Amino acid sequence: MFKISEDVRKQIESLPHKEIFVVTIEGKEICFANIDGKPHAFLNRCPHAAARLSEGTCNARGIISCPLHGYKFNVQTGKDVDQNGYRLRIYKLQYVEGELFIQL
Ligand code: FES
Repeated sequence: MFKISEDVRKQIESLPHKEIFVVTIEGKEICFANIDGKPHAFLNRCPHAAARLSEGTCNARGIISCPLHGYKFNVQTGKDVDQNGYRLRIYKLQYVEGELFIQL
């Protein structure tokens, strides 16, 4: 588990709905989204053809649309909403005594 700095944690927690915050951790570009007050993390790389998902749009239910071909993924589960056979890489987040950790 990798501890997310306090500054970054606060930015993630205050993210407005539908906005995505990108942080590079251990060389990986990771997107954070805040769905119903809970942070979620996923790789900034579409599993179809590697477009940057941070340039797509995320709705309030946590469904992100890829900017390149429009495939949709659930950022909470990684599931491919359109059932095209792809799976978004998501990362487990965990709070421990008020600190936020990510499992890479
Ligand atoms: S690169 Fe994302 S749908 Fe094709």
